[in-house]
Amino acid sequence: MKSFNIAVIPGDGIGPEVVEEALKVLAVIEEQENVKFHYQYGRLGGCAIDEDGTPLPEHTVQISKAADAVLLGAVGGPKWDQNPSHLRPEVGILGIRKALGLYANLRPAITYECMAKVSSLKEEVVAGVDLMVVRELTGGIYFGDKKRFTSEDGKETATDTLIYQEDEIDRIARKAFEIAMKRNKRLVSVDKANVLESSRLWRSIIEKVAKDYPEVEYSHMLVDNCAMQLVRAPKQFDVIVTENMFGDILSDEASMLTGSIGMLASASLSDGNFGLYEPIHGTAPDIAGKGLANPIATILSAALMLRYSFGLDQAAQRIEEAVETVLNRGVRTSDIAEDREKAIGTKEMTEQILSVLTGK
Ligand code: NAD
Ligand code: IPM
Ligand code: MN
Repeated sequence: MKSFNIAVIPGDGIGPEVVEEALKVLAVIEEQENVKFHYQYGRLGGCAIDEDGTPLPEHTVQISKAADAVLLGAVGGPKWDQNPSHLRPEVGILGIRKALGLYANLRPAITYECMAKVSSLKEEVVAGVDLMVVRELTGGIYFGDKKRFTSEDGKETATDTLIYQEDEIDRIARKAFEIAMKRNKRLVSVDKANVLESSRLWRSIIEKVAKDYPEVEYSHMLVDNCAMQLVRAPKQFDVIVTENMFGDILSDEASMLTGSIGMLASASLSDGNFGLYEPIHGTAPDIAGKGLANPIATILSAALMLRYSFGLDQAAQRIEEAVETVLNRGVRTSDIAEDREKAIGTKEMTEQILSVLTGK
């Protein structure tokens, strides 16, 4: 029997609530595929600050490195928001991405037919959206030097450095072109080359890499225009490749094309099969502990894990189809409900998905 090691990092807020649901789906897949998943649990973020005195305990890095894949919830919350910068939960998530070399973050936004009317945008604008944001994940302003100091004129001053080197851009560009080759062969590279030197370097490397992918029709777009185009005419996009912070912001925006941020899964990859899988949303402090969170983003992240890290494509597809079937039946958590009175909770949503998956 094939077996896979999974590091499970539930995190904070709704993180543990949604990860628990994804694990129920994986338990069904174990039976159906005749595979075995071995789980090791790790702490990250706020819960690790409380328990271990650091947002990224060494144990969590170790079990992640030893695993075939990592399943993550989310980290952060108001409890730790006033902490000094090295003791913030977010340092944990950035640290683990870096420690595992996960430079490519894939964030697919797909609007299921029945969900077009759920979006805050017009149905005809979002129906049929199927795009992939490829976000650079281990460079840029997130990882450049940060400083806070009093300047010579006595003013409180802070700096964050946006830095990219050519090889960092080259590898994410290649990843994005490869992905475009397997999709509709259209790529938009998003930058701010009219202002930022790092974007001008980004653009020149995209130009160079594009020569190796003559079949891919590609173009450049400034990030402010892209933010606007995403809500004006999102169906123009197939693959979007962009730097770390732009990708963070644009993918939250893209999530609303699908109905809710509670729908968007992600895969963080390097060059091999290993990957870290997490919903793009955060810990949702406003609904944490209430059993209201939409588990679909995390369940779909587990499906991406089966596909990209374990080669279990059919199982991944069955999960995706089960999610779509349930949504087609009008089953809704409150974030995607047209009628909030009829919305169900986190566990009930999973039960519906499991029932389709098992046929029971
Ligand atoms: P958020 O994504 O946690 O929440 C934004 C809004 O979306 C909230 O109203 C929330 O209730 C809703 N929402 C999010 N996920 C949902 C789900 N599954 N079902 C239903 N509704 C959902 O963003 P935020 O409020 O800006 O951040 C809260 C905390 O999460 C911060 O500490 C932030 O740093 C952290 N965060 C962590 C990650 C991560 O771990 N990858 C990602 C984003 C934010
Ligand atoms: C995400 C989050 C993180 C990011 C935060 C929590 C550091 O917003 O995964 O999108 O900005 O990458
Ligand atoms: Mn984000």
